[in-house]
Amino acid sequence: MSQTPVRFSEERSEDVVAASFAGAQDPRLRLVLTSLVRHLHAFAKDVELTQAELDAAIGFLTRTGQTCDGTRQEFVLLSDVLGLSMLVDTMANRAPAGATDSTVLGPFHMVESPARRLGDQISLVPGGEPTLVTGQVLSAAGRPLAGAVVDVWQADEKGFYDVQRDDVPTGHLRGLFTCDDQGRFAFRTILPAPYPIPDDGPVGELLAASGRHPYRPAHIHFIAGAEGHAPLTTHVFVSESPYLDSDAVFGVKDSLVLDFVHVEDPEPAAYAMPVPFRHAHVELRLRESP
Ligand code: BEZ
Ligand code: FE
Repeated sequence: MSQTPVRFSEERSEDVVAASFAGAQDPRLRLVLTSLVRHLHAFAKDVELTQAELDAAIGFLTRTGQTCDGTRQEFVLLSDVLGLSMLVDTMANRAPAGATDSTVLGPFHMVESPARRLGDQISLVPGGEPTLVTGQVLSAAGRPLAGAVVDVWQADEKGFYDVQRDDVPTGHLRGLFTCDDQGRFAFRTILPAPYPIPDDGPVGELLAASGRHPYRPAHIHFIAGAEGHAPLTTHVFVSESPYLDSDAVFGVKDSLVLDFVHVEDPEPAAYAMPVPFRHAHVELRLRESP
């Protein structure tokens, strides 16, 4: 009859430590800790982790914590570059047929988007390539969701968010829109540029040490909400952008890559866009609330 080992040995280390959590009252906590220990020990054995490497890892995690403050969350960034944020987000938002794929929230949704009217200009300072974004919020089955709310934020033509610049008003390139009775929305903006994630901390060191660049492809963020439906956090990516195949945070899904077409013909120049301009049409299809 096999007995649960209580004394530590290299061979049975994961069994011994996993068993120490057997008394955890919360079954989910018990499952998570037990599995974590098993994978952690298997990993250390797989790479024959040395004391110096363990010390370096603890130093790295310590500096990661020390880099966090009220606005910077280096641990989330670490989860992002390890692909863990995308995995957890994707598992939590398995899109049923017809629903739009989700992607990571990111750290720049840190100020409230100002309420704007349909068709408003969200670029508050000169510069950038004029861009019209039109869209519609629908159910997964294609039913327009009247009165849906769409929160939008993006980087500028040089890849900076408003909160990274002190020469633009907060709210530049952000907007909160209430859709019309057909779930439609529209705003005028500029074409976003690719940009690096914050790489002046431990996460940047990790990327540099492993020969990875810190860039994200050009994108616009959306959070869409409508009664009876699960909120959707996603982006649309500019189809001609560099880094679509090497996003530092693995946020790109094929379904989210969109053409921002050149419009030269003044005919469809709705919303008083200066010609030429870019136009993207975005469909955001929401799952029903569970
Ligand atoms: C962003 O797109 O804003 C973002 C997402 C994850 C990490 C850093 C930035
Ligand atoms: Fe972003």
